[in-house]
Amino acid sequence: MLEERLSRITQVVADPSVTAGYCTDFTGRWRGSTPLVVLPASTAEVAEVIRVCAGEGVPVVPQGGNTGLVGGGVPMGGEVVLSSRRLTGLGPVDASAQQVTAGAGVVLAALQRHVRAAGLDFGVDFAARDGATVGGMIATNAGGERVLRYGTTRANVVGVEAVLADGSVVSRLGGLPKDNTGFELPFAGSEGALGVVTAARLRLVPLLEHRATALLGLPGVPAALAALAVLRTLDSLEMAEFFLSGGLRLVREHTGLPAPTRVEHAVYLLVECAAHRDPAPELHALLAALDAPEIVVAADTADRYRLWRYREAHTEAINARGVPVKLDVALPLGELPAFLDELPALAGDAELYLFGHLAEGNLHVNLIGGRDATEPVLRRVARAGGSISAEHGVGRAKTPWLHLSRSPAELAALRAVKHALDPAGLLNPGVLVP
Ligand code: MLT
Ligand code: ZN
Repeated sequence: MLEERLSRITQVVADPSVTAGYCTDFTGRWRGSTPLVVLPASTAEVAEVIRVCAGEGVPVVPQGGNTGLVGGGVPMGGEVVLSSRRLTGLGPVDASAQQVTAGAGVVLAALQRHVRAAGLDFGVDFAARDGATVGGMIATNAGGERVLRYGTTRANVVGVEAVLADGSVVSRLGGLPKDNTGFELPFAGSEGALGVVTAARLRLVPLLEHRATALLGLPGVPAALAALAVLRTLDSLEMAEFFLSGGLRLVREHTGLPAPTRVEHAVYLLVECAAHRDPAPELHALLAALDAPEIVVAADTADRYRLWRYREAHTEAINARGVPVKLDVALPLGELPAFLDELPALAGDAELYLFGHLAEGNLHVNLIGGRDATEPVLRRVARAGGSISAEHGVGRAKTPWLHLSRSPAELAALRAVKHALDPAGLLNPGVLVP
């Protein structure tokens, strides 16, 4: 029996009251079921688990912190869940190479604490830092709030260790920045469909001691883009996040926070600069020259986090309002104003909440209730030369529309890679490459 065979290898949970927590995503939109959750504590155990499952033709869904938003880590077909939660090894920080090795189950906030204690930092950061894991971040090529400075997760990974669908292990944790002995396997953005990431060698960045943060109240998105164009001249700019008045109202209802500005504005732009020397003077000089109706400057670290909260609490506030359809799209910056003008009509009778990462043209379109507007919104994004998934991945939610962002030749190549590495289709079936 499968449970018995897997239990001889590692920890296995079959109790439905426990496995239920691995079967539903954060939004409550994706609800699956599983006979077993397997929690290996080493790469060798992952390899053995995969070998046994492959031998019995049992499909497996790899899962990290289960903070995904596109159904990519939920067992929708009754698959076995392979959780990375016990793969929590964290190696010593190599200060001269500016690297660290982390297990796939290391939570982002724990990684941050570990490397910051050694005077370095990890370039990727986002609101789900207390739940999201290194393996999940690699599998989804997570983006977040500092992409404008450090790129997405892919740019912050030196090498990956993973177990392939046949149970073989590929390990590239040596940390050599120069090693052109062929191409790297594309685990970043592979969404658990090509292999199970078990560990990674991560690139670190300097820990910047001085930060300056401001919230701008603006009349519209064109004004936010104009402000961004000016602020981007600062090398120290690290964050440019935006939200709208409707989302702010919802966040305030949910959190009980007071209004961040004297009067309400159509658009809010949250910017942060970071440097070894205090970046406040250069940020404030540029802010003073901007034609912004209202600017609030953070006084200290607690105040910075208070301003972040207005932006970061959007996800939970929207969730508390209802089960959202989450469309994470990106458009060329020049296309944003026209798209945003058309969006309310495209959304129809659904409640629309919008926020995101302005520098990448990355909009989180959240729709609650009403008719499902996924199709018209994604088609409009594609017509504007945008991406139907900027940072959350394809998962199960976006597979029907992947052809809007990828050409037939690209889709054929994706399928060929999937088939070469997982010919029986046992790893995360139905995700990314159906
Ligand atoms: C964020 O930017 O906070 C995340 O992508 C989560 C979300 O889109 O809800
Ligand atoms: Zn985001």
